[in-house]
Amino acid sequence: MAQERTLSIIKPDAVAKNVIGEIESRFEKAGLRIVAMKMLHLSNEKAEGFYAEHKERPFFKDLVGFMTSGPVVVQILEGDNAITANRDLMGATNPKEAEAGTIRADFANSIDANAVHGSDSPESAAREIGYFFADDEICPRG
Ligand code: TYD
Ligand code: MG
Repeated sequence: MAQERTLSIIKPDAVAKNVIGEIESRFEKAGLRIVAMKMLHLSNEKAEGFYAEHKERPFFKDLVGFMTSGPVVVQILEGDNAITANRDLMGATNPKEAEAGTIRADFANSIDANAVHGSDSPESAAREIGYFFADDEICPRG
């Protein structure tokens, strides 16, 4: 299987619930390795740029407001099919539709405060990784 990297964010609601470790543990138990990570409080500009693809959507303003409401953990996960593996662990965007045992089913309250972000394709993973990390901030672990 292909070794991939994906951009993961633990969103402000999950950081506020103090479940960073529980979420990281799910990634590690699934065989994904954290090869870069930082805790940040996003500016409006940084959050808007990150979610630029959703600029015209009705929820954009609220999404940016939520993502800047508190600190987030931004990280790169690496492993076999990391992009899909992470999306599977996350569950559906709307936690009410997320499968039991997924991160969003277990930790998210609503579609707008849904605990985690994960890149949805190789192209978005490349863009999102470059948006947050310089090459020398990434530590491949083999
Ligand atoms: P999207 O990329 O569709 O979902 P995902 O995070 O699963 O890739 O949307 C980005 C975020 O925008 C989503 O995590 C939460 C927010 N959002 C809403 O608040 N309302 C909505 O109806 C949708 C589709 C997304
Ligand atoms: Mg998305």
